[in-house]
Amino acid sequence: MAYKVPFVDAKLHYARLKPEIDGAIVDCLTKGDLVYRKQLKDFEDRLAEFVGVKYAVGVNSGYHALHFALLGAGVGPGDEVITVAHTFVATVSAIVHCGAKPVLIEVGKDYNIDPSRIEATITSKTKAIIPVHLNGRLSDMGKVMAIADKYKLAVIEDAAQALGASFGGRRGGSFGLAGCFSFYPFKILGGFGDGGAVTTNDPGVARLASLLRYNGEDRETGEYHHHGYTALLDNVQAAVLDVKLRHLPKWIEHRRMIASLYREALTGVGDLQLPHFEGDQYYDIFQNYVIRTQQRDKLRAYLKEQGVETLVHWPKPMWEHKGLELPDPGLKETESICREVISLPMSAETAEEHVQITCQVIKNFFKGA
Ligand SMILES: Cc1ncc(COP(=O)(O)O)c(C=O)c1O
Repeated sequence: MAYKVPFVDAKLHYARLKPEIDGAIVDCLTKGDLVYRKQLKDFEDRLAEFVGVKYAVGVNSGYHALHFALLGAGVGPGDEVITVAHTFVATVSAIVHCGAKPVLIEVGKDYNIDPSRIEATITSKTKAIIPVHLNGRLSDMGKVMAIADKYKLAVIEDAAQALGASFGGRRGGSFGLAGCFSFYPFKILGGFGDGGAVTTNDPGVARLASLLRYNGEDRETGEYHHHGYTALLDNVQAAVLDVKLRHLPKWIEHRRMIASLYREALTGVGDLQLPHFEGDQYYDIFQNYVIRTQQRDKLRAYLKEQGVETLVHWPKPMWEHKGLELPDPGLKETESICREVISLPMSAETAEEHVQITCQVIKNFFKGA
C-alpha cells in the first residue's frame, strides 16, 4: 500500500544524494576497488574521528560488531553478560554465539538499561555489560562505567541506534572497551545493505576485529591467526557510507527538529508518553521516535487506515520466541513496553507536513476513542 506518510523514504533519500553516491560507487568500480581498499580505510578513519576513538573497524553488520567486541573482551563459555531485555535480538544472539549466558535486566522509562538493577545481577561469572543505547539516546554512561570499574567488568556499548548521540559531551561508542554500530539501511547512517563497525581505543580489540572479519588472516603477512569469519565491510559500501557521514550532522539536527514538532503537537494528547526525558548531559539523535499508549494496537491500525506507516520495536518479549530458548526473566516493565510502544515516521526525509498529518490523525483517534 502507498502511504501518505511513509515510515522512511529510501527512494527520496537516494534521489537527494544521487550525484555524490553515484560518484563514489563509480569511482570504486572504475578503479576496481572492491575489497579492503582505500575507501574502507578512509571511512574507518573518519568514523573513528567522529565517534572520538582511535580505531574503527568496518564489518558486515552490527551483529558481527557485537560478536567481535565480545570476543575482544574475552567473553566465552561459562561467562555471563548483563544486558537489557528490551533490545534487538542481535544483542543477545551475539552473547549466545560466544557460548556465554545472557543475563537480561529491566530498562528504565527512557528504554535504556536501568543502572540501579545491574549490581544485583553481578556474579563471579559476570564478564561484561552491554548497555544498549536505544532509539538514539545513550544509556546513563556515568553510572554504567562506575559499576563496571568497581567490579572490573568490560563494557561493550551497543550503539547500533545511536551514532552521534552523546552523554556529558562524549559520543556513544567511546566510553566502553568497544562500541558497536549498525549501518543497516534505515539506521541514521545507513548503507545500501548490511554493514557495521567496532569502535575502540584498545589496539588489541581493533586488531582482533580486523583479523576475525577477514577469516583470521593478516593481510600483510598472509598468516591466519584465528578461525575467523567472512565479515568484512564491503569497500563500495564503505565509500557510500563515507559520503553519507558528511551529511550526518545535518540529519541529526533535522531529526531533533522533527522530534520537537512531534513534542509540540502531541504533548497532553490522550494517555501518550513521549520520548523526551530529563537530563541535560544527554544529546539525543532520535533514531526512532517512540511513543507509548495503552491503546497501541488500535492506534496503529487507525494510523494505517489513514495512510500513516508506523513500526513496533518489538511486539513481544524475546523469551516468548520459543526458538531462542531463553528463560522467562519475569520483567514486567519490558512486557508492558512491548504492548505499548509505537514508532512514528522519522528519518532525514520526514517533512513538517508528515508530522502535521500524523499528529492530526493521532489527535482524531484520541478524540473519537
Ligand atoms: C539495538 C541493536 N543492536 C544490534 C543491531 C544489529 O545490527 P545489524 O542489523 O546491522 O546486524 C541492531 C540493528 O537493528 C539494533 O537496533
